[in-house]
Amino acid sequence: MTTGTPTLINEQFETLAERVDQAVNEVRKLEGEAQTKALDLMRAVEDFHKFGLTKIVQKLKSDPRGKELLFELVDDPSVYALFAMHGIVRADLGTRVSRVIDMVRPYMQSHGGDVELVEVNSETVYVKLHGACNGCSMSAVTLRNGVEEALKEHVPEIKQVEVVPTEPSPALIPLDAIGIESAQEAGWIKGPPVDEISPSRPYRLDTPDLSIVIVKVENQLAAYRNECAHQGLPLDGGILDPEAGTLTCPWHGFCFDARSGECFTAPQAQLEPFPLRVEDDYVWVRPG
Ligand code: FES
Repeated sequence: MTTGTPTLINEQFETLAERVDQAVNEVRKLEGEAQTKALDLMRAVEDFHKFGLTKIVQKLKSDPRGKELLFELVDDPSVYALFAMHGIVRADLGTRVSRVIDMVRPYMQSHGGDVELVEVNSETVYVKLHGACNGCSMSAVTLRNGVEEALKEHVPEIKQVEVVPTEPSPALIPLDAIGIESAQEAGWIKGPPVDEISPSRPYRLDTPDLSIVIVKVENQLAAYRNECAHQGLPLDGGILDPEAGTLTCPWHGFCFDARSGECFTAPQAQLEPFPLRVEDDYVWVRPG
């Protein structure tokens, strides 16, 4: 028996997945009773597996060590694919929101516009409207409502959609247009000068109420609640890998996409992102 390198294991997994796809395609080419019987067999086997897998996951989830093990298992692409295939794990919030945005895009485009996902912040989705949707208040309101309805229907965690103006870049009303005091009243917190954010380590920004971690990857900045999605421990001592674009928690090694906060270790986990903007070379963050 060989242990196998990750590359070999991935190849084996892809080969097996291809075999499944090919077999399913062949079944779909069958006609009449033969196809019905083959599909019945396929569903019966799938239901049988789903039943057993669900029991295993429930048992693991009921025990702290089991939960940890489950997170490790889900990190494996083949296990994740198996769970996702049976609906046992859901895609993370950002992925589900992005799927809905892709779903409504053809409708927006048929009205000469487009929608761009800016960020997902727990219950709120921030989008930019382009083309005919941008600048025309009536169509912007109608289309925003359409996006919001679709999101609420398909992603129940989402409660509202906010439209971020497309000009000036990157987002929202320029702070100097409303004044620093108003900006602060609107919940924006002034952070450090942009130059102080190192691409090789997270920056910690503390307020009286909460701690924020700011990261820079390829000149792109992102801000998150300074709490790991695993056990809520601070992330600011984590390892920022500028090449891989990842932030790794110093406590138990959960690995996150530094740009989106998505967790690679446990795909259902996600860092809580905060809106961030740069104004006069200073970073501003608006905690949720
Ligand atoms: S708190 Fe456990 S990995 Fe971050």
